[in-house]
Amino acid sequence: MKALQITELTGPDSALSPVDIPEPEASHMLTPGSGVVVDVVAAGVSFPEVLQTRGEYQFKPDLPFVPGAEVAGTVRSAPEGSRLAPGDRVAAMAMLGGFAEVAVAPDFLAFPLNDKLDFAQGAGLILNYHTAYFCLRLRGRLAEGETVLVHGAAGGVGTASIQVAKGLGAASVIAVVSSDEKEHVAREAGADEVVRSDGAWKDEVKAFGGADVIIDPVGGDRFTDSLRSLKEEGRLVVVGFTGGSIPEVKVNRLLLNNTEVVGAGWGAYVMAKQKVNREIGEALEPMIDSGVVKPLIGARFPLDRAAEALKLIDGRGATGKVVLDVAPQT
Ligand SMILES: NC(=O)c1ccc[n+]([C@@H]2O[C@H](COP(=O)([O-])OP(=O)(O)OC[C@H]3O[C@@H](n4cnc5c(N)ncnc54)[C@H](OP(=O)(O)O)[C@@H]3O)[C@@H](O)[C@H]2O)c1
Repeated sequence: MKALQITELTGPDSALSPVDIPEPEASHMLTPGSGVVVDVVAAGVSFPEVLQTRGEYQFKPDLPFVPGAEVAGTVRSAPEGSRLAPGDRVAAMAMLGGFAEVAVAPDFLAFPLNDKLDFAQGAGLILNYHTAYFCLRLRGRLAEGETVLVHGAAGGVGTASIQVAKGLGAASVIAVVSSDEKEHVAREAGADEVVRSDGAWKDEVKAFGGADVIIDPVGGDRFTDSLRSLKEEGRLVVVGFTGGSIPEVKVNRLLLNNTEVVGAGWGAYVMAKQKVNREIGEALEPMIDSGVVKPLIGARFPLDRAAEALKLIDGRGATGKVVLDVAPQT
């Protein structure tokens, strides 16, 4: 099969090489001897793949390896007892191996793909939307009628968080973005208010009444202003650090305003909890049916131009989900 391998840790420009390698067997590293084999139509591209090209991601497979955490396509084979059958449309978290014509995922991370979504949207579903649900509901304890603020709101996790917050009944979602184009994307995703990261966003958010839950995939020096933007009993959910630096908290602020900082690491949490994956997938289905959850696809590239996809994300140019078209959509 055709695939891309990371052969050296030299960054998005040069780390990937096209290869012709044997198809994988129906066995995944998380479920040895068992796995859902997928004929890949679309592969999602995300920050971890950029980091992997430099050897900077926490999970460091031996070289060479096929990157690509998530895919959508059709099931070629599924293990006994699976709710999936050959020919089913599927969205699957393979962790690795997605930049290829055939990939394998553990059964507990493979979900029937709702008819409302195409394969590109399926390739943008699990990482971002399961993370968004996990962060907002399970970690941020979002309740109906609350106000949510989302940093990096035009990005993959950001657009997903806007939509899932609306699906969970948030009264208002405020998006923080850095450009006009990203403002447009955040509004398309469903944001009620949009503020600019280079403006007086904290004061604007306070004028809106503050936030009950803040989703922060950016970190960096805006963290203290995020804490100041929380309402009493508000929760700031730490999701990532695309801004580069890892912020520090003066905990007296938490005491003075009765607020919380909550860590949210979706991958580490759900890998060992198969039931939670199923529950998150089921909770998202009605949101997909109603149309509130609808992954926004930004740039699309053929498999052999994956380096361009990685560079787009690396250069802060991505909006929504970046996707590789591996096979024609049928
Ligand atoms: N905790 C978890 O379980 C979990 C799960 C999935 C992903 N993540 C992490 O969440 C983060 C966001 O992922 P994503 O897929 O949403 O990424 P993305 O689509 O590239 O979006 C990230 C956003 O961060 C903002 N940003 C601010 N400073 C930046 C900089 N210096 N370089 C790049 N972006 C910058 C950008 O928005 P503006 O330009 O508008 O500021 C950008 O839209 C990543 O760190 C990822 O690893 C965590």
